[in-house]
Amino acid sequence: MSEKKEKIVAIKGMNDILPADAPLWELFENTAESVLKSYGYQKIVTPIVEETGLFARAIGAVTDIVEKEMYSFTDSMNGDQLTLRPEGTAGVVRAVIEHNLAYDGPKRLWYKGPMFRHERPQRGRYRQFFQFGAEAIGFSGPDIDAELIMLCRRLWDDLGLDNIRLELNSIGNAEERQRHRADLIAYFEANIDVLDAEAKRRLHANPLRILDTKNPAMQDLVNNAPKLLDYLGGESLAHFEGLKKILDANNVQYTVNPRLVRGLDYYNRTVFEWVTDMLGAQGTVCAGGRYDPLIETFGGKPTPGIGFAMGIERLIELMKEQGEPATPAQCDVYLVHQGEDAQTKAFILGERIRDAGLDVVLHCATPAGAGSFKSQMKKADGSGAAFAVIIGEDEVENGVVAVKSLRDSEGGQQQTSVPFDEAVDFIVDQIVGGHDHDHDHDHVHYHP
Ligand code: HAM
Repeated sequence: MSEKKEKIVAIKGMNDILPADAPLWELFENTAESVLKSYGYQKIVTPIVEETGLFARAIGAVTDIVEKEMYSFTDSMNGDQLTLRPEGTAGVVRAVIEHNLAYDGPKRLWYKGPMFRHERPQRGRYRQFFQFGAEAIGFSGPDIDAELIMLCRRLWDDLGLDNIRLELNSIGNAEERQRHRADLIAYFEANIDVLDAEAKRRLHANPLRILDTKNPAMQDLVNNAPKLLDYLGGESLAHFEGLKKILDANNVQYTVNPRLVRGLDYYNRTVFEWVTDMLGAQGTVCAGGRYDPLIETFGGKPTPGIGFAMGIERLIELMKEQGEPATPAQCDVYLVHQGEDAQTKAFILGERIRDAGLDVVLHCATPAGAGSFKSQMKKADGSGAAFAVIIGEDEVENGVVAVKSLRDSEGGQQQTSVPFDEAVDFIVDQIVGGHDHDHDHDHVHYHP
Protein backbone atom coordinates (compact mmCIF):
# COMPACT_ATOMS: atom_id res chain seq x y z
CA MET A 1 0.00 0.00 0.00
CA SER A 2 1.46 3.32 -0.95
CA GLU A 3 1.08 6.22 1.47
CA LYS A 4 -0.41 9.47 0.26
CA LYS A 5 2.51 11.60 -0.89
CA GLU A 6 2.70 15.24 0.08
CA LYS A 7 2.77 17.57 -2.89
CA ILE A 8 5.94 19.61 -3.26
CA VAL A 9 5.33 23.13 -4.53
CA ALA A 10 7.60 26.02 -5.51
CA ILE A 11 8.86 28.39 -2.84
CA LYS A 12 6.55 31.32 -2.17
CA GLY A 13 7.35 34.26 -4.42
CA MET A 14 9.41 32.13 -6.83
CA ASN A 15 7.76 31.35 -10.14
CA ASP A 16 7.96 28.71 -12.83
CA ILE A 17 8.05 30.11 -16.33
CA LEU A 18 5.87 27.66 -18.24
CA PRO A 19 6.13 26.81 -21.96
CA ALA A 20 3.06 28.92 -22.75
CA ASP A 21 4.95 32.03 -21.63
CA ALA A 22 8.36 31.00 -22.99
CA PRO A 23 7.88 32.56 -26.46
CA LEU A 24 7.17 35.96 -24.89
CA TRP A 25 10.28 35.68 -22.70
CA GLU A 26 12.29 34.69 -25.75
CA LEU A 27 10.90 37.62 -27.70
CA PHE A 28 11.77 40.02 -24.89
CA GLU A 29 15.28 38.65 -24.36
CA ASN A 30 16.13 38.44 -28.06
CA THR A 31 14.89 41.98 -28.68
CA ALA A 32 16.72 43.38 -25.65
CA GLU A 33 19.95 41.61 -26.58
CA SER A 34 19.85 42.90 -30.13
CA VAL A 35 19.14 46.46 -28.97
CA LEU A 36 22.06 46.31 -26.50
CA LYS A 37 24.27 44.90 -29.26
CA SER A 38 23.24 47.69 -31.62
CA TYR A 39 24.78 50.18 -29.12
CA GLY A 40 27.99 48.17 -28.71
CA TYR A 41 27.27 46.61 -25.30
CA GLN A 42 28.98 43.30 -24.46
CA LYS A 43 27.63 40.47 -22.33
CA ILE A 44 28.97 39.71 -18.87
CA VAL A 45 27.93 36.82 -16.60
CA THR A 46 28.71 36.90 -12.90
CA PRO A 47 27.90 34.32 -10.19
CA ILE A 48 24.48 34.24 -8.51
CA VAL A 49 26.17 33.80 -5.12
CA GLU A 50 28.64 36.37 -3.74
CA GLU A 51 30.15 37.20 -0.38
CA THR A 52 27.54 38.92 1.80
CA GLY A 53 29.91 41.83 2.42
CA LEU A 54 29.87 42.81 -1.25
CA PHE A 55 26.20 43.76 -1.12
CA ALA A 56 26.33 45.41 2.29
CA ARG A 57 29.13 47.68 1.04
CA ALA A 58 27.74 48.40 -2.44
CA ILE A 59 24.03 48.82 -1.75
CA GLY A 60 24.39 50.34 1.72
CA ALA A 61 23.97 48.82 5.19
CA VAL A 62 20.87 50.87 6.02
CA THR A 63 18.76 50.05 2.98
CA ASP A 64 15.64 47.85 2.85
CA ILE A 65 17.48 45.34 0.68
CA VAL A 66 20.44 44.82 2.99
CA GLU A 67 18.55 45.18 6.28
CA LYS A 68 15.73 42.77 5.60
CA GLU A 69 15.52 41.32 2.11
CA MET A 70 18.72 39.35 1.49
CA TYR A 71 18.88 35.57 1.25
CA SER A 72 22.05 35.18 3.28
CA PHE A 73 23.47 31.96 4.66
CA THR A 74 26.58 30.39 6.07
CA ASP A 75 28.37 27.91 3.81
CA SER A 76 28.28 24.80 5.99
CA MET A 77 31.52 23.53 4.43
CA ASN A 78 33.75 26.43 5.43
CA GLY A 79 31.72 29.02 7.34
CA ASP A 80 31.77 31.66 4.56
CA GLN A 81 28.98 34.24 4.73
CA LEU A 82 27.21 34.14 1.36
CA THR A 83 24.20 35.81 -0.25
CA LEU A 84 22.02 35.16 -3.29
CA ARG A 85 22.46 38.36 -5.29
CA PRO A 86 19.60 40.84 -4.78
CA GLU A 87 20.70 42.86 -7.84
CA GLY A 88 23.35 42.82 -10.55
CA THR A 89 25.38 46.01 -10.25
CA ALA A 90 27.49 44.96 -7.24
CA GLY A 91 28.67 41.75 -8.91
CA VAL A 92 29.47 43.48 -12.21
CA VAL A 93 31.48 46.17 -10.41
CA ARG A 94 33.33 43.47 -8.43
CA ALA A 95 34.18 41.62 -11.65
CA VAL A 96 35.28 44.82 -13.41
CA ILE A 97 37.74 45.58 -10.58
CA GLU A 98 38.89 41.98 -10.15
CA HIS A 99 39.74 41.60 -13.85
CA ASN A 100 40.98 45.18 -14.45
CA LEU A 101 38.31 45.48 -17.11
CA ALA A 102 37.93 49.26 -17.13
CA TYR A 103 41.56 50.35 -16.95
CA ASP A 104 42.30 49.91 -20.66
CA GLY A 105 39.34 52.07 -21.63
CA PRO A 106 35.66 52.36 -20.77
CA LYS A 107 33.36 49.38 -21.06
CA ARG A 108 29.73 48.94 -22.08
CA LEU A 109 28.31 45.79 -20.46
CA TRP A 110 24.97 43.99 -20.20
CA TYR A 111 23.68 41.04 -18.18
CA LYS A 112 20.53 39.12 -17.42
CA GLY A 113 19.53 36.63 -14.78
CA PRO A 114 17.66 35.84 -11.57
CA MET A 115 17.86 38.13 -8.53
CA PHE A 116 16.58 37.33 -5.04
CA ARG A 117 14.87 39.57 -2.48
CA HIS A 118 12.83 38.44 0.51
CA GLU A 119 10.00 40.90 -0.14
CA ARG A 120 6.28 40.48 0.43
CA PRO A 121 5.11 38.82 -2.80
CA GLN A 122 2.37 40.53 -4.78
CA ARG A 123 1.62 41.27 -8.42
CA GLY A 124 4.92 42.37 -10.00
CA ARG A 125 6.95 41.77 -6.86
CA TYR A 126 8.56 38.39 -6.38
CA ARG A 127 11.28 36.79 -4.28
CA GLN A 128 13.04 35.43 -7.34
CA PHE A 129 12.73 37.76 -10.31
CA PHE A 130 14.70 38.31 -13.50
CA GLN A 131 16.53 41.46 -14.42
CA PHE A 132 17.97 42.59 -17.71
CA GLY A 133 20.60 45.22 -16.99
CA ALA A 134 23.34 47.36 -18.50
CA GLU A 135 26.35 49.05 -16.89
CA ALA A 136 28.60 51.58 -18.62
CA ILE A 137 31.87 51.83 -16.70
CA GLY A 138 34.47 54.55 -17.20
CA PHE A 139 32.31 57.25 -18.84
CA SER A 140 31.86 60.54 -16.99
CA GLY A 141 29.76 62.82 -19.20
CA PRO A 142 25.99 63.16 -19.55
CA ASP A 143 26.25 61.69 -23.06
CA ILE A 144 26.39 58.10 -21.79
CA ASP A 145 23.45 58.83 -19.44
CA ALA A 146 21.46 59.90 -22.49
CA GLU A 147 22.59 56.85 -24.47
CA LEU A 148 21.38 54.44 -21.78
CA ILE A 149 18.01 56.17 -21.62
CA MET A 150 17.61 56.25 -25.40
CA LEU A 151 18.53 52.60 -25.60
CA CYS A 152 15.59 51.84 -23.28
CA ARG A 153 13.29 53.94 -25.46
CA ARG A 154 14.38 51.96 -28.52
CA LEU A 155 13.61 48.71 -26.71
CA TRP A 156 10.09 49.89 -25.78
CA ASP A 157 9.55 50.88 -29.42
CA ASP A 158 10.85 47.57 -30.76
CA LEU A 159 8.57 45.68 -28.39
CA GLY A 160 5.61 47.86 -29.34
CA LEU A 161 5.23 49.09 -25.76
CA ASP A 162 3.78 52.52 -25.15
CA ASN A 163 2.46 53.88 -21.87
CA ILE A 164 5.92 53.88 -20.31
CA ARG A 165 7.03 57.31 -19.12
CA LEU A 166 10.42 58.50 -17.99
CA GLU A 167 11.03 60.14 -14.63
CA LEU A 168 14.33 61.84 -14.12
CA ASN A 169 16.18 63.50 -11.27
CA SER A 170 19.65 64.44 -10.12
CA ILE A 171 20.62 63.69 -6.56
CA GLY A 172 23.95 65.50 -6.78
CA ASN A 173 26.97 64.36 -4.80
CA ALA A 174 27.37 63.29 -1.17
CA GLU A 175 28.20 66.77 0.08
CA GLU A 176 25.21 68.34 -1.68
CA ARG A 177 22.93 65.67 -0.27
CA GLN A 178 24.36 66.24 3.23
CA ARG A 179 23.53 69.95 3.14
CA HIS A 180 20.02 69.21 1.87
CA ARG A 181 19.53 66.57 4.54
CA ALA A 182 20.44 68.94 7.34
CA ASP A 183 17.95 71.55 6.06
CA LEU A 184 15.30 68.89 5.52
CA ILE A 185 15.58 67.62 9.09
CA ALA A 186 15.43 71.20 10.43
CA TYR A 187 12.34 71.87 8.27
CA PHE A 188 10.54 68.76 9.51
CA GLU A 189 11.52 69.47 13.12
CA ALA A 190 10.00 72.92 12.79
CA ASN A 191 6.77 71.24 11.63
CA ILE A 192 6.89 68.27 13.96
CA ASP A 193 3.13 68.53 14.76
CA VAL A 194 2.26 67.67 11.16
CA LEU A 195 4.45 64.54 11.03
CA ASP A 196 2.78 61.16 11.49
CA ALA A 197 4.34 58.41 13.59
CA GLU A 198 6.17 56.80 10.67
CA ALA A 199 7.65 60.13 9.56
CA LYS A 200 8.84 60.81 13.09
CA ARG A 201 10.53 57.42 13.14
CA ARG A 202 12.31 58.19 9.83
CA LEU A 203 13.19 61.77 10.69
CA HIS A 204 16.81 61.12 11.56
CA ALA A 205 17.40 57.70 9.97
CA ASN A 206 16.22 58.55 6.44
CA PRO A 207 14.43 61.92 6.12
CA LEU A 208 14.37 61.69 2.30
CA ARG A 209 11.95 58.77 2.57
CA ILE A 210 9.43 61.03 4.34
CA LEU A 211 9.00 62.75 0.97
CA ASP A 212 7.45 59.50 -0.34
CA THR A 213 4.58 59.63 2.18
CA LYS A 214 1.06 58.89 0.94
CA ASN A 215 -0.53 60.54 3.99
CA PRO A 216 -2.88 63.28 2.63
CA ALA A 217 -2.41 65.34 5.78
CA MET A 218 1.30 65.66 5.01
CA GLN A 219 1.14 66.51 1.28
CA ASP A 220 1.37 70.30 1.75
CA LEU A 221 4.28 69.81 4.08
CA VAL A 222 6.30 67.61 1.71
CA ASN A 223 5.43 69.73 -1.33
CA ASN A 224 6.97 72.75 0.34
CA ALA A 225 10.00 70.92 1.74
CA PRO A 226 13.51 71.93 0.61
CA LYS A 227 14.24 70.32 -2.78
CA LEU A 228 17.48 68.46 -3.34
CA LEU A 229 17.68 69.95 -6.85
CA ASP A 230 18.09 73.40 -5.30
CA TYR A 231 21.21 72.21 -3.47
CA LEU A 232 23.14 71.05 -6.52
CA GLY A 233 26.46 72.76 -7.17
CA GLY A 234 27.68 73.98 -10.55
CA GLU A 235 29.15 70.69 -11.79
CA SER A 236 26.15 68.58 -10.81
CA LEU A 237 23.80 71.12 -12.39
CA ALA A 238 25.83 71.29 -15.60
CA HIS A 239 25.76 67.48 -15.84
CA PHE A 240 21.98 67.42 -15.38
CA GLU A 241 21.44 70.25 -17.89
CA GLY A 242 23.73 68.46 -20.37
CA LEU A 243 21.66 65.31 -20.10
CA LYS A 244 18.37 67.14 -20.56
CA LYS A 245 19.74 68.93 -23.60
CA ILE A 246 20.60 65.66 -25.37
CA LEU A 247 17.25 64.15 -24.43
CA ASP A 248 15.40 67.23 -25.72
CA ALA A 249 17.36 67.23 -28.97
CA ASN A 250 16.37 63.59 -29.48
CA ASN A 251 12.71 64.05 -28.61
CA VAL A 252 12.84 61.95 -25.47
CA GLN A 253 9.90 62.92 -23.24
CA TYR A 254 10.53 63.01 -19.49
CA THR A 255 9.37 64.64 -16.31
CA VAL A 256 11.78 65.83 -13.68
CA ASN A 257 10.62 64.29 -10.41
CA PRO A 258 12.45 65.98 -7.53
CA ARG A 259 11.21 63.26 -5.18
CA LEU A 260 12.85 60.43 -7.12
CA VAL A 261 15.66 59.25 -4.84
CA ARG A 262 15.98 55.43 -5.37
CA GLY A 263 16.35 52.83 -2.64
CA LEU A 264 20.02 51.91 -3.07
CA ASP A 265 22.81 54.00 -1.58
CA TYR A 266 25.36 53.90 -4.38
CA TYR A 267 23.77 56.53 -6.60
CA ASN A 268 24.92 60.07 -7.34
CA ARG A 269 23.82 62.67 -9.88
CA THR A 270 21.52 61.16 -12.54
CA VAL A 271 18.77 58.80 -11.40
CA PHE A 272 15.83 57.67 -13.53
CA GLU A 273 12.88 55.34 -13.61
CA TRP A 274 10.64 54.13 -16.45
CA VAL A 275 7.13 53.78 -15.07
CA THR A 276 3.81 52.51 -16.40
CA ASP A 277 0.31 52.95 -14.95
CA MET A 278 -0.89 49.69 -16.46
CA LEU A 279 0.51 47.31 -13.84
CA GLY A 280 -0.95 48.60 -10.59
CA ALA A 281 1.32 49.38 -7.65
CA GLN A 282 4.49 47.83 -9.11
CA GLY A 283 4.70 50.02 -12.20
CA THR A 284 8.45 50.66 -12.37
CA VAL A 285 9.69 48.51 -15.22
CA CYS A 286 13.25 49.85 -15.34
CA ALA A 287 15.39 51.89 -12.98
CA GLY A 288 18.94 53.09 -12.73
CA GLY A 289 21.39 55.87 -12.32
CA ARG A 290 24.98 56.97 -11.84
CA TYR A 291 27.29 55.48 -9.21
CA ASP A 292 30.55 57.37 -9.70
CA PRO A 293 32.04 56.78 -6.22
CA LEU A 294 31.28 53.04 -6.06
CA ILE A 295 34.37 51.57 -7.73
CA GLU A 296 36.67 53.65 -5.56
CA THR A 297 34.92 52.51 -2.37
CA PHE A 298 35.85 48.95 -3.41
CA GLY A 299 39.50 49.86 -3.66
CA GLY A 300 39.53 50.34 -7.43
CA LYS A 301 40.97 53.39 -9.16
CA PRO A 302 38.38 56.19 -9.33
CA THR A 303 36.17 55.16 -12.28
CA PRO A 304 32.69 56.52 -12.96
CA GLY A 305 29.75 54.24 -13.70
CA ILE A 306 26.10 54.32 -14.65
CA GLY A 307 23.53 51.65 -15.44
CA PHE A 308 19.99 50.41 -15.21
CA ALA A 309 18.07 47.19 -14.63
CA MET A 310 14.69 46.14 -16.00
CA GLY A 311 12.29 43.80 -14.23
CA ILE A 312 11.57 41.21 -16.91
CA GLU A 313 8.40 39.81 -15.25
CA ARG A 314 6.89 43.30 -15.22
CA LEU A 315 7.74 43.87 -18.88
CA ILE A 316 6.26 40.49 -19.84
CA GLU A 317 3.07 41.49 -17.98
CA LEU A 318 3.02 44.75 -19.88
CA MET A 319 3.50 42.95 -23.20
CA LYS A 320 0.47 40.81 -22.31
CA GLU A 321 -1.56 43.87 -21.28
CA GLN A 322 -0.80 45.60 -24.54
CA GLY A 323 -1.94 42.96 -26.96
CA GLU A 324 -2.79 39.33 -27.33
CA PRO A 325 0.47 37.73 -28.41
CA ALA A 326 0.40 35.58 -31.54
CA THR A 327 0.06 31.90 -30.75
CA PRO A 328 3.45 30.41 -31.42
CA ALA A 329 3.67 27.16 -33.33
CA GLN A 330 5.69 24.33 -31.84
CA CYS A 331 7.18 23.26 -35.16
CA ASP A 332 7.03 23.55 -38.95
CA VAL A 333 6.26 19.88 -39.62
CA TYR A 334 4.45 17.21 -37.61
CA LEU A 335 5.31 13.61 -38.54
CA VAL A 336 2.42 11.15 -38.37
CA HIS A 337 3.16 7.46 -38.82
CA GLN A 338 1.73 4.00 -38.20
CA GLY A 339 3.50 0.65 -38.19
CA GLU A 340 7.09 -0.32 -37.52
CA ASP A 341 8.42 0.27 -41.05
CA ALA A 342 6.66 3.63 -41.21
CA GLN A 343 8.25 4.64 -37.91
CA THR A 344 11.71 3.82 -39.30
CA LYS A 345 10.99 5.99 -42.35
CA ALA A 346 9.59 8.76 -40.17
CA PHE A 347 12.78 8.95 -38.08
CA ILE A 348 14.93 9.12 -41.22
CA LEU A 349 12.74 11.79 -42.81
CA GLY A 350 12.60 13.79 -39.56
CA GLU A 351 16.40 14.02 -39.43
CA ARG A 352 16.56 15.07 -43.09
CA ILE A 353 13.98 17.82 -42.65
CA ARG A 354 15.86 19.13 -39.59
CA ASP A 355 19.08 19.05 -41.64
CA ALA A 356 17.29 21.42 -44.01
CA GLY A 357 16.76 23.85 -41.13
CA LEU A 358 13.11 23.22 -40.27
CA ASP A 359 11.67 22.20 -36.91
CA VAL A 360 9.99 18.83 -36.71
CA VAL A 361 7.92 17.05 -34.08
CA LEU A 362 7.79 13.30 -34.56
CA HIS A 363 4.74 11.66 -33.04
CA CYS A 364 5.78 9.41 -30.12
CA ALA A 365 3.84 6.86 -28.10
CA THR A 366 2.18 7.75 -24.80
CA PRO A 367 0.81 5.40 -22.10
CA ALA A 368 -2.41 5.42 -24.17
CA GLY A 369 -0.54 3.87 -27.10
CA ALA A 370 0.84 4.99 -30.44
CA GLY A 371 -2.46 6.64 -31.41
CA SER A 372 -4.74 6.20 -34.43
CA PHE A 373 -4.16 8.32 -37.54
CA LYS A 374 -7.09 10.43 -36.45
CA SER A 375 -5.74 11.16 -32.98
CA GLN A 376 -2.25 11.81 -34.40
CA MET A 377 -3.72 14.30 -36.87
CA LYS A 378 -5.40 16.10 -33.99
CA LYS A 379 -2.00 16.48 -32.34
CA ALA A 380 -0.57 17.74 -35.63
CA ASP A 381 -3.30 20.40 -35.83
CA GLY A 382 -2.72 21.42 -32.23
CA SER A 383 1.01 21.81 -32.78
CA GLY A 384 0.51 24.75 -35.12
CA ALA A 385 2.70 23.08 -37.76
CA ALA A 386 2.31 24.21 -41.35
CA PHE A 387 2.37 20.62 -42.62
CA ALA A 388 1.67 17.11 -41.46
CA VAL A 389 3.69 14.41 -43.15
CA ILE A 390 1.87 11.09 -43.05
CA ILE A 391 3.52 7.69 -43.47
CA GLY A 392 1.40 4.54 -43.26
CA GLU A 393 1.80 1.01 -44.59
CA ASP A 394 0.59 2.03 -48.08
CA GLU A 395 3.08 4.88 -48.26
CA VAL A 396 5.94 2.59 -47.22
CA GLU A 397 4.94 0.08 -49.85
CA ASN A 398 4.80 2.72 -52.60
CA GLY A 399 7.92 4.60 -51.50
CA VAL A 400 5.99 7.84 -50.94
CA VAL A 401 4.82 10.08 -48.11
CA ALA A 402 1.61 12.11 -47.89
CA VAL A 403 2.17 15.80 -47.24
CA LYS A 404 -0.88 17.60 -45.91
CA SER A 405 -1.08 21.35 -45.57
CA LEU A 406 -2.66 22.27 -42.24
CA ARG A 407 -3.14 25.94 -43.00
CA ASP A 408 -5.18 26.04 -46.24
CA SER A 409 -8.59 26.98 -44.98
CA GLU A 410 -10.19 27.45 -48.43
CA GLY A 411 -11.21 24.39 -50.41
CA GLY A 412 -10.30 21.95 -47.66
CA GLN A 413 -6.84 20.87 -46.65
CA GLN A 414 -4.71 19.75 -49.55
CA GLN A 415 -2.89 16.46 -49.46
CA THR A 416 -0.15 15.53 -51.91
CA SER A 417 1.64 12.25 -52.43
CA VAL A 418 5.38 12.82 -52.83
CA PRO A 419 8.18 10.28 -53.44
CA PHE A 420 10.08 9.67 -50.18
CA ASP A 421 13.39 11.02 -51.51
CA GLU A 422 11.79 14.22 -52.79
CA ALA A 423 9.83 14.92 -49.63
CA VAL A 424 12.39 17.25 -48.04
CA ASP A 425 12.74 19.47 -51.12
CA PHE A 426 8.98 19.55 -51.55
CA ILE A 427 8.36 20.64 -47.96
CA VAL A 428 11.16 23.20 -47.89
CA ASP A 429 9.82 24.63 -51.14
CA GLN A 430 6.32 24.89 -49.76
CA ILE A 431 7.39 26.51 -46.50
CA VAL A 432 10.15 28.79 -47.67
CA GLY A 433 8.44 29.55 -50.96
CA GLY A 434 11.47 29.08 -53.17
CA HIS A 435 13.77 31.22 -50.99
CA ASP A 436 16.88 29.74 -49.51
CA HIS A 437 16.22 28.62 -45.99
CA ASP A 438 18.97 29.94 -43.82
CA HIS A 439 19.20 27.16 -41.25
CA ASP A 440 18.17 29.66 -38.62
CA HIS A 441 16.95 27.62 -35.70
CA ASP A 442 15.96 30.72 -33.75
CA HIS A 443 13.10 31.60 -36.04
CA VAL A 444 9.77 31.67 -34.25
CA HIS A 445 6.84 30.08 -36.01
CA TYR A 446 3.82 32.27 -35.64
CA HIS A 447 0.43 31.46 -37.05
CA PRO A 448 -0.21 33.96 -39.82
P1 HAM B 1 16.16 48.30 -8.54
O1 HAM B 1 15.33 49.52 -8.63
O2 HAM B 1 16.30 47.69 -7.20
O3 HAM B 1 17.58 48.67 -9.15
O4 HAM B 1 15.58 47.22 -9.51
C1 HAM B 1 15.46 47.45 -10.89
C2 HAM B 1 14.16 46.89 -11.43
O5 HAM B 1 14.05 45.49 -11.11
C3 HAM B 1 12.90 47.48 -10.81
O6 HAM B 1 12.56 48.70 -11.44
C4 HAM B 1 11.88 46.40 -11.10
O7 HAM B 1 11.42 46.50 -12.43
C5 HAM B 1 12.69 45.14 -10.93
N1 HAM B 1 12.50 44.57 -9.59
C6 HAM B 1 13.10 44.94 -8.44
N2 HAM B 1 12.67 44.19 -7.40
C7 HAM B 1 11.76 43.32 -7.91
C8 HAM B 1 10.95 42.27 -7.35
N3 HAM B 1 11.01 41.96 -6.06
N4 HAM B 1 10.13 41.57 -8.17
C9 HAM B 1 10.08 41.88 -9.50
N5 HAM B 1 10.81 42.85 -10.08
C10 HAM B 1 11.64 43.56 -9.30
C11 HAM B 1 18.61 47.78 -9.23
O8 HAM B 1 18.51 46.60 -9.04
C12 HAM B 1 19.89 48.42 -9.70
N6 HAM B 1 20.96 47.37 -9.71
C13 HAM B 1 19.72 49.03 -11.08
C14 HAM B 1 20.99 49.66 -11.57
C15 HAM B 1 21.87 49.13 -12.41
N7 HAM B 1 21.45 50.84 -11.21
C16 HAM B 1 22.60 51.06 -11.80
N8 HAM B 1 22.89 50.01 -12.53
